Amino acid sequence: MTAQKTILRALAGETQPTPPIWMMRQAGRYLPEYKATRAEAGDFLSLCYNSDLATEVTLQPIRRYGFDAAILFADILLLPQALGADLWFVTGEGPRLSTITDQAGLDALRPVDEIHETLNPIYQTVRNLSKALPQETTLIGFAGMPWTVATYMIAGQGTKDQGPAHALKDENPAVFDALMERLTEGTIEYLSKQIEAGAEVVKLFDSWAGSLKGADFDRYAIEPARRIIAELKSRHPATPIIAFPREAGEKYIGFARATGADCVALDNSVSPDWAAAHVQVDGCVQGNLASSHMVTGGEGLVRETRKIVEAFANGPHIFNLGHGITPDADPDNVQLMIDTVRAQR
Ligand code: CP3
Repeated sequence: MTAQKTILRALAGETQPTPPIWMMRQAGRYLPEYKATRAEAGDFLSLCYNSDLATEVTLQPIRRYGFDAAILFADILLLPQALGADLWFVTGEGPRLSTITDQAGLDALRPVDEIHETLNPIYQTVRNLSKALPQETTLIGFAGMPWTVATYMIAGQGTKDQGPAHALKDENPAVFDALMERLTEGTIEYLSKQIEAGAEVVKLFDSWAGSLKGADFDRYAIEPARRIIAELKSRHPATPIIAFPREAGEKYIGFARATGADCVALDNSVSPDWAAAHVQVDGCVQGNLASSHMVTGGEGLVRETRKIVEAFANGPHIFNLGHGITPDADPDNVQLMIDTVRAQR
């Protein structure tokens, strides 16, 4: 079976004259059609759990731009919710969760085999999408990595330095390790169901991996990724996996080898030339244009886009941003980025 879709070819290690392209948070508030559908749903979580509307917003950026991949519309915090945490979003601020800081909080969580009751609408969205997408478009499923998800469950919200999670890790390792274990097992089951429903690739978001230093990085970023990837590969050997240990810096080196990931997604704090020499040597990379260019546009956008395409031209590459597009981005700048990537061959 040869992969025809451009994203799957890159993930299989093929160097292509024009890199395939998609964008983190491509379905989002910078698009007027997203805002309209979100208003129809009522709020963000209702949108995530409404399979028809979640399908619609996933398709919107594909219709508008013809990206090479669609990413399932959902959120990394749905898994903690399925495990029994309370979750809500405060407009203009972000997520809030009930906090877990001790054994009693851990004991109150549901067992992993009960998560699907909550997550079934998400699998339905995946099934809808695998029917609705154009045949050349790859469907990407995703989950948060245990460390990143744990930082939200422990603090009850997003934090600048992940202080509460670091404190629990250092002061009550038994509870912290048990939470990491539950999340590791939950992530495997959640992603496995997405793959069974039709996700062709899965991506692991470790947005706060960069705050894990030294041995902590190996233990709480690499080791969970290695376990999740090994188990998914044993169940679904043909499904490629993209890992995003954001702001890993020097730790990007060897990450694919250490974890078994087919592709490492790069944030924009590493230079493309450096990453080509040290990370792309091990296989496919994804990234890494600063999302601020989607706000500022112009010559700067064109110059940086070309620089990234050229730096990664001698190996497998999927073009993307270094982090999600922001609500203040101009939709025309997204088109300019795509045109610039596709003009270079
Ligand atoms: O990329 C995509 O288009 C797919 C959908 C997706 C969302 N969140 C939708 C979303 C994905 C892959 C995520 C991942 C996610 N969610 C991460 C990891 C990636 C990253 O950005 O670092 C994290 C940390 C979260 C948790 C989360 N969800 C936060 C902190 C917020 C609030 C910040 C914000 O942008 O409002 C969200 C909300 C969220 N998730 C929105 C979207 C489209 C905005 C919700 C809205 O419409 O108001």
